[in-house]
Amino acid sequence: MAFQGKSALVTGGGSGMGRLAAQQFAAAGAHVAILDVNEAGLQETAAGNDKIHPYVVDITDFDAVSRAVNEFEAAHGPLDRVYNCAAIMPFGRLLEQDPSLTNKLMSINYGGLVCVARATVPGMVERGSGEFASFASMSGIIPSLLMGGYNASKAAVVAYTEVLWHENRDSGVKFVCVCPPAVATPLLNQGKESTWPKLMQQSEGEELAPETVLAAVERDLGKSKFWCMVTGQAKLGWFMRRFFPNLVWNNIHKVEGW
Ligand SMILES: NC(=O)c1ccc[n+]([C@@H]2O[C@H](COP(=O)([O-])OP(=O)(O)OC[C@H]3O[C@@H](n4cnc5c(N)ncnc54)[C@H](O)[C@@H]3O)[C@@H](O)[C@H]2O)c1
Repeated sequence: MAFQGKSALVTGGGSGMGRLAAQQFAAAGAHVAILDVNEAGLQETAAGNDKIHPYVVDITDFDAVSRAVNEFEAAHGPLDRVYNCAAIMPFGRLLEQDPSLTNKLMSINYGGLVCVARATVPGMVERGSGEFASFASMSGIIPSLLMGGYNASKAAVVAYTEVLWHENRDSGVKFVCVCPPAVATPLLNQGKESTWPKLMQQSEGEELAPETVLAAVERDLGKSKFWCMVTGQAKLGWFMRRFFPNLVWNNIHKVEGW
């Protein structure tokens, strides 16, 4: 990846894949704006790196996102690349999860994407170039027991990103919808600390490395591929869900035991 003199923006840059992406872009020569509500995480990501520029911003606040974008672009030039990584992932049975938490999932995971896309994509479309990576999840494609709030928010991310791509398919901007299975980042702790489905327990230790996911995104952006499923197994899951949904549900019920 050669990114000399370019500029990028990464949300969720205070942790996990957002942090790694920002550090990779900066190492490749770009100036990178990182947006997050986690101020300490932002500082850690940017420590000792004058190409990484932290902004404490809640991505559900459109005005705050727009201010950060304008300030960063004025200093470092128009955005060449945007990765929307920020998200939360508390799990729980739908009728037991506090409705305000279920709605918060939608507000951050989906509503945040809307704010970030609206603050960054119009400029890219106007310039006729740019790359926009929307971090969805396999969970946006395959719904499962105990993950309903997260599933719904990521399904919304998938739908929004797909339409955004098609509405701008002749614009010169590349879009990629990233749908990985479990990845070894702090996000998983939110699931573990709420309700940890047996399905997730089964795949413990098999989580992907964040590096693997980011390399797949880079590869698929290079090929102008919209769907980034990351692994063959994830592609198989997508196929099964699409053509044999009852089989998938039967397996989920069997694993969870109810
Ligand atoms: N880790 C996984 O297993 C996995 C699997 C599939 C998809 N994903 C998706 O990949 C993306 C990156 O996840 P990660 O695993 O690196 O997560 P992470 O928890 O390590 O990082 C997410 C960051 O988002 C920030 N954030 C949360 N709410 C915010 C808000 N309102 N405004 C700004 N920042 C906010 C958090 O503070 C955190 O720093 C997410 O969209 C996630 O849903 C993750």
